[in-house]
Amino acid sequence: MISFDNVHLRFDTGISLRDLNFDIEKNEFVYLYGPSGSGKTSILKLIYMDLFPNDGQVKVLGHVSTGIKRRDIARIRQRIGMVFQKFRLLSDRDIYSNIALPLEIQGHKSNEIRRKVVHVADELGLHSRLHHFPHELSGGEQQRVALARSTVNSPDIILADEPTAHLDEKASAEVMEWIWKIHAGGTSVLFATHKEHILKQEPARTISIDSGEIIQDRSV
Ligand SMILES: Nc1ncnc2c1ncn2[C@@H]1O[C@H](COP(=O)(O)OP(=O)(O)OP(=O)(O)O)[C@@H](O)[C@H]1O
Ligand SMILES: [Mg+2]
Repeated sequence: MISFDNVHLRFDTGISLRDLNFDIEKNEFVYLYGPSGSGKTSILKLIYMDLFPNDGQVKVLGHVSTGIKRRDIARIRQRIGMVFQKFRLLSDRDIYSNIALPLEIQGHKSNEIRRKVVHVADELGLHSRLHHFPHELSGGEQQRVALARSTVNSPDIILADEPTAHLDEKASAEVMEWIWKIHAGGTSVLFATHKEHILKQEPARTISIDSGEIIQDRSV
């Protein structure tokens, strides 16, 4: 599904990710664990092809980062649910249409869209928010909307960037339960976090990163 082959990424500031090598198979659940600034978001962006390596290559769903065409990036992204650390909700659409967006892009019928959006909103405690706008929601609620949007079309891969960062214990547990449920349906998950207790609650393979380098890749 995903493979990193001697990947190096250098920013203008001199900061870099170095010699990243790992594979993630279909149906795997993997934590990407490391402190703030270690490179978690950058790795997710490399997979989403928002960033490209300076050396080495990233392979996602059969496509190689080197020389990839825009059209193929769009194809890959249709099959990936990305939960951005900064949410990226559309401010001029209400919560319902934010969540419905991936289904609309894929051309689903409106009654099917309704059924799926309502289901995911129920699972994530957002049912009373569907006709509000993003600015009317708390940070934690917006975070759950971002998760709802990225999972509503049952993608092949979920890239979740600190999806519980703004949540209290109860909402965080709901989010974790939802992600594991999606995973049980056959979706590969790469879950970035700096919180050790998350890893301990539901152990899974953990790729640990520090200062742009993988320092451990441990399966349970
Ligand atoms: N566009 C950029 N230009 C320059 N440096 C960048 C850029 N994006 C990230 N970096 C640097 O790369 C390093 C890794 O950043 P990244 O956002 O991947 O870390 P992170 O592990 O996601 O951190 P956090 O837990 O705080 O979200 C940081 O030192 C950051 O300053
Ligand atoms: Mg980050």
